[in-house]
Order: sequence, then C-alpha cells, then structure tokens
Amino acid sequence: MSLRIIVKHPDPVLREMCKPVQKFNANLHKLLDDMAETMYMAEGVGLAAPQVGNLKRVVVIDVGSGLLEMVNPEIIDRRGVQVGPEGCLSIPTLMGDVRRAKWVRARAYDRYGKEFTLEGSDLLARAIQHEIDHLNGVLFIDLAIRIYSSREHK
Ligand code: CO
Repeated sequence: MSLRIIVKHPDPVLREMCKPVQKFNANLHKLLDDMAETMYMAEGVGLAAPQVGNLKRVVVIDVGSGLLEMVNPEIIDRRGVQVGPEGCLSIPTLMGDVRRAKWVRARAYDRYGKEFTLEGSDLLARAIQHEIDHLNGVLFIDLAIRIYSSREHK
C-alpha cells in the first residue's frame, strides 16, 4: 500500500464527472488499498477517487464501524432530512452545514465485482451522499447553507 496525495480545492479534477469501473482487477484493488490508507492517515471518514486524482467511481468510507469499499455506488432510496456539519479532506480549512437525507439505501459493487446494497442513517448516510457527490464533481461547499472556518468549529 502507499499513501496518495490528496487533491485540494480548487483543483479542477474535483469538478470532473467520474467514469464507472469496468475492470475489477489488481489496479482497482491497489487504488482501494491506497485510498483506505490515505483516508486513515488523514483521519477522514470518507474519500473518493477524484480526491487522489483518479476519475473512477470508487469511494471508501469508515465512520467508525469498519471500512466500506463502494465501486460504482448509487443511491437507490432516501428518506428524511438531516442538517449538520460537514468537512472534506480536499477543503481542510472549511466546514459547512449541509442538508442531507437522514437515511439512504445504496447499491454498489465490491472490489471483486459482486453487487451489494447497504443502508445507513445519520453520519453514514451523510458520508455516502458526500462521497457519491464527489464522483459527480459536487463539493459540500456547493450545497452548504452556511460555511465557516474549520477552526471555528473546534
Ligand atoms: Co469530501
């Protein structure tokens, strides 16, 4: 495994539309391994492939209950509303209050190409929505109803 450099806003790579993964091969496994290592080192709860400069539909998430790897993820159902603070490893100086669905069901593929569904609420639902947004070039600062310094939040 190796650490990758986290791309920072306003790098235009963060605004690209990512392409679906078609080959579930060693390159994908290396990307997922490196993304997880990079996320943990940066103490984030999620990381999307464009944040390491790779324009594939790949995300990793760990909100404290174990590593989740999602390839070609899609939200297939959402319920409720939550508004809360959100940050991003690509925008380390800012946080924002973002309105999100409180609960989502997502469909994705694992690293071997096996489809699965996943349900999450609260922070996990927020992370899933935030990371999938990255795959479409959307950042939390586009959605936030209030933006503030991340120092102010601590
Ligand atoms: Co982010």
